[in-house]
Amino acid sequence: GRVWTDIGDLGEADAGRSVLIRGAAQAMRPVSKKMAFLVMRQSMSTVQCVLVATAEAGVSTQMVRFATSLSKESIVDVEGVVSVPKEPLKATTQQVEIQVRKVYCINRAIPTLPINLEDAARSEAEFEKAEQAGEKLVRVLQDTRLNYRAIDLRTPANQAIFRIQCQVENKFREFLSSKQFIGIHSPKLIGGSSEGGAAVFKLQYNGQPACLAQSPQLYKQMSICGGFGRVFEVGPVFRAENSNTHRHLCEFIGLDAEMEIKEHYFEVCDIIDGLFVAIFKHLNENCQKELETINRQYPFEPLKYLEKTLKLTYAEGIQMLKDAGTEIDPMGDLNTESEKKLGRLVKEKYGTEFFILYRYPLAVRPFYTMPCYDDPSYSNSFDVFIRGEEIISGAQRVHTPELLRKRAIECGIDASTIASYIESFSYGAPPHGGFGVGLERVVMLFCALNNIRKTSLFPRDPQRLAP
Ligand code: 4AD
Repeated sequence: GRVWTDIGDLGEADAGRSVLIRGAAQAMRPVSKKMAFLVMRQSMSTVQCVLVATAEAGVSTQMVRFATSLSKESIVDVEGVVSVPKEPLKATTQQVEIQVRKVYCINRAIPTLPINLEDAARSEAEFEKAEQAGEKLVRVLQDTRLNYRAIDLRTPANQAIFRIQCQVENKFREFLSSKQFIGIHSPKLIGGSSEGGAAVFKLQYNGQPACLAQSPQLYKQMSICGGFGRVFEVGPVFRAENSNTHRHLCEFIGLDAEMEIKEHYFEVCDIIDGLFVAIFKHLNENCQKELETINRQYPFEPLKYLEKTLKLTYAEGIQMLKDAGTEIDPMGDLNTESEKKLGRLVKEKYGTEFFILYRYPLAVRPFYTMPCYDDPSYSNSFDVFIRGEEIISGAQRVHTPELLRKRAIECGIDASTIASYIESFSYGAPPHGGFGVGLERVVMLFCALNNIRKTSLFPRDPQRLAP
């Protein structure tokens, strides 16, 4: 068989070698009847291919014409010899060229694509520079990108974003596995809402009312009752919220964990500390190419975080906001604006953009949250913030059936819809706690992207069910 080479692997060491590549025809530049350039792309990498009509190369003028008439984004095979150009190449990622011997079109793209990929890959700064120079470039709108996501995903930044997402997920599994957590898969078709509230997708399950799981909450806790000690799950989470914001989706990927606790729910915070410091380190050390690629289109400052994650009480957070002039109800929840402001204040005072805020008022937490032993108007719960936005919420859970039933009723939940969950705690259940993370939010905020739709492959928001 023939030996295929990945475009991203091509380098000066290949000079003189015959190679065979397959990629998308990104740009065609005719120079004369006898010469043309063809830029080929594969994932985040591009290479310049040079066609010169000569007898010794076996290249005809027809072949040069054929190459320049290819429609953009057609899938093309190129056979040729690697050479090192005299001048560094600005337009491609690879610093070598391919002197073409043969070109085959494997599958043509339609002549006019709904998105111009070069425009879709430009940074805001490039648009501004072009405008100042009097050039007319068209920005690709978010909705247009999402309508034609199969093209939009081909931009280098998007290729990098989903590689980062995969790394976060892998590291989550790897780290928790190393701490004796077991991966589980809980049902997504369930009988009653798992988080309470109206944000539930309802459906019929063989004639019985049912809903899509708003989280693995009830089942990860029942797995602790089932004797697993420590569990994690990576899976879809469904929220029927009519929230048209930059950070809400109707379906997202939940990274969940639940564990027995021996003395204090800070044991859960310690896991989060180790886990996220490991994730950030891994991304910074092993995903430089991806981060640089994202940075070229969407420039951002690296995340500031401490080796030992900062923990602040909710009351301290409220006090910092008050001192900075924000009027705020100390027993209410933080709104988006106060969260952002607190993020800025904490960064100024402690030099970190990643911190845990704990001991929330009980009234703003779900029914399964453990009240504080010393003051039941507060709870053994916490949220975690990156760059002033929430990415995690977690808590110690109520592990006695009596209190659980009481709290469910107080929170307006029909206890009969979660009867088997409550009963699970009557067979002997250890004290436990856990947390839930939104994967898309982690990637969005680590890279300081402005919209969660950028980090969801095919986002589902209140307006979008296709593609
Ligand atoms: O804060 P939430 O709703 O908490 C739970 O689901 C609990 N069962 C977690 C626990 O173990 N106590 O969701 C957890 C995380 C949030 O911090 C946020 O990152 C993300 O999930 N999230 C969303 N992401 C995208 N779109 C939405 N609509 C989200 N809602 C929550």
